[in-house]
Parts: sequence; C-alpha cells; structure tokens
Amino acid sequence: MIFELTEEQQMIRDAARDFAQNELKSGVIERDEHQKFPTEQIRKLGELGFLGMMVDPKYNGAGLDTVSYVLVMEELSKIDASASVVVSVNNSLVCDGLEKYGTEEQKEKYLKPLAAGEIIGAFCLSEPEAGSDATSQRTVAEDKGDHYLLNGTKNWITNGGTASTYLVIAQTHPEKGHRGINALIVEKGMDGFTVGPKENKLGIRGSDTHSLLFSDVRVPKENRIGEDGFGFKFAMKTLEGGRIGIAAQALGIASGAFELAVNYARERQTFGKPIAQHQAIQFKLADMATQIEAARLLCLKAAWLKDRGEPYAQAASMAKLYASEVAMKATVEAVQIHGGYGYVKEYHVERLMRDAKITQIYEGTSEIQRMVISREILKD
Ligand code: CAA
Repeated sequence: MIFELTEEQQMIRDAARDFAQNELKSGVIERDEHQKFPTEQIRKLGELGFLGMMVDPKYNGAGLDTVSYVLVMEELSKIDASASVVVSVNNSLVCDGLEKYGTEEQKEKYLKPLAAGEIIGAFCLSEPEAGSDATSQRTVAEDKGDHYLLNGTKNWITNGGTASTYLVIAQTHPEKGHRGINALIVEKGMDGFTVGPKENKLGIRGSDTHSLLFSDVRVPKENRIGEDGFGFKFAMKTLEGGRIGIAAQALGIASGAFELAVNYARERQTFGKPIAQHQAIQFKLADMATQIEAARLLCLKAAWLKDRGEPYAQAASMAKLYASEVAMKATVEAVQIHGGYGYVKEYHVERLMRDAKITQIYEGTSEIQRMVISREILKD
C-alpha cells in the first residue's frame, strides 16, 4: 500500500492551492455577501483545465485521474466552496456522465466546450416533490417521434442561471416507473425553457442556484443520453462520481477552517499565553486533525477505486457521509476557537460553517448516503 502522491498529483494540488490563494481569496467575502457568481474565476479555472479534469484530451479534457480531482477540490474548497461546487458539478455530473454515456455526436457538440470550460453545465434531477425520492419524477418527456416534448419544473439546480447545457431527467413511460425515465440534453435558449428566480441561500451564496421551468420544450431525440429508459440509471451512476467531488468539497471546507483555527490559536493570547497553549484548544485541534485525516483517506480511497475501474458507490457514499459530518463539526469548532472574531465575516470561519451545511444535503442527504451504504452491506 502506497500513500504517496505522484509528482504530477502534487503539482496539480499545488497549482490549485496557488489559484485558491491568488485568485479566489480576495473577493470571497464580497461574493458571499452579494451572492455574486465567480464568473472571472471560473473562466480562469476553465483555462487551467479544472472544469474537465478527468475528460480525455481528445474531448478537450485534462486527462487526469480522480485522485487529482479530489486534491483540487480540497484546495479550492478551503477558500471558496461556491466556486468549487461549480467545478464539481461540471466535472462529475456533467462531463463525466456525457463522456461515459453520450454518443460521439453529443461529445463533439456538448462535451468538448464543457470540458474546455468555454461553457458550463448543470445536472437537473431534483424537483419540488422529488428530492431524495428521485424515482418520483414529475417532469415529463413525452415521446413525439423525432423529439421529446418536455414539461415540468426542476428545483435547486446548481449553475441553473449560468449554465448553457442542462442534463435533464424526466419521465417518458410512467407505467414503467424508474425504468421509463430518460436523461435529455437541453440547451439554454430552447423555446419554452425558462430559468426561475435565484435562491437566496444560507451558504455557498456565490454559486448560482435556480429553479427551471420547461413548458412544451422540443428536445430532439438525438439529445437523449443512452437507450430509452436509461435516465434513472444514468443519474444514479453519475451521482456516484459526484459524491466523491462533494466529499472532497466537505473535506476542503473542514481543512480550510482547521488551518484558520491553528493560525489563530498560535496568535491569540489569553491568560498570558497563546490560546494554542491551553489544553482545551489543543484537544479541539487534535480531534479536528484526526477527523479531517480520516475524511481525506476516505475521499482518496473512493477516488482510487474509481480510477482502478472498481465498484466505488459505497466508498463514495462513505466519504461523503463522513466528510460532510466532519465539515460541520470542524467549522463549528473553528468558530468556537475564534470566539467573537469567529462570528464576524472578516475571519472567514462563519462562512465556512454556513457552507459546510449544504454538503450534508446535496447530491444525496446524509440519510441517502446511509441507505446506499447499508444496501451494499446487506445485499446478497
Ligand atoms: N447505479 C446503477 N443503478 C442504480 C444505482 C446505481 N448507483 N442505484 C440505484 N440504481 C438502480 C437500481 O438497480 C434500480 O434499477 P432496477 O430496478 O432496474 O434494478 C433502480 O435504480 C431503482 O433503485 P432503487 O430501487 O434502489 O431506488 P430507490 O428509490 O429505493 O432509491 C436512491 C434510490 C439511492 C435513494 C436514489 O433515489 C437516490 O440516490 N436519491 C438521492 C438523489 C440525489 O442524490 N439527488 C441529488 C440531486 S443532484 C444535486 O444535488 C446536484 C447539485 O446541484 C450539486
């Protein structure tokens, strides 16, 4: 067993760390406060190849492994989880799904600009009445011969306003249940497709979350991903990879808060010495460091399995479940260590605490991860 990163992986991690420090950090408080999407930063991330990290270079991707993706997600998320969720969704839920299951024509037309970061994508599964219970899709894609007629509403869609390409999950054959669901590529600007208002969120406020409305949108048949009825499996398989990205995001939020807490504890004096010399603080730091390291190992293990082509659904859910819990705990402790300073925006930890919460909700709540893990344990 080798725990060492390759030279290339270290270089990529360092590049992401530099980018986060030099490009993401300066405006992050303002973007959070004003719910401002990091447009310029995402453009630069695209130029660096971070929006199509694992895609084959022949489709404009960087051709890197999932371990590198985890390293990048951790570094970006230490500083700006609003930017990193864009990276995660574009890489895992959009590019990865299109590369694995799309046709050559779909890859030429959609994957290439997505992987190059020229446009960004969105993954549209959740609905007002189908969040965790994802088989209960109400959005309908009626088969009209050469096209589908799409009607319905999607909720809480990351990149909802800024995306150009949307992978939309919809029901075509209700009598077949989840086996009647399709995944369609929908373009912004198609007649009948409207982006609803932006959500005013607790955390990841710089990201762009919208509802989407489809009213008699004609989607050509060639925009269906996979065979008729493959849409639910497409969503589930794609989410497996997505959960590694969000696990790494949670890890980054936790380790970002931890680094801030360590620095603060070294500087802040109480009772005549730095608070780092008080055992109450040392114990908190020791617990945080131990939990963060365990979360990191789970993330890397899931990524390693994926890179080896082995089943990784359970490992991805374990990583996401655990890392998101660690993100909540570590950020709450980081605020506590900062005392009153932790409660104001300039010290960053209150934002990380707010950002941490979403990692227990999106791409499957903690309860969904437990379902996935326990099903794997109990299956014959
Ligand atoms: N891979 C392949 N197929 C899978 C699968 C997987 N990982 N998981 C389930 N399936 C298949 C099953 O085999 C079954 O197919 P068959 O009947 O043909 O065998 C079918 O899907 C239905 O499976 P279940 O009976 O297990 O379905 P269920 O309704 O009991 O539960 C669930 C499935 C795991 C709970 C699923 O609904 C789920 O993951 N829900 C959470 C959805 C989610 O993560 N939403 C996040 C939205 S995206 C997002 O948040 C993005 C963002 O903006 C950042």
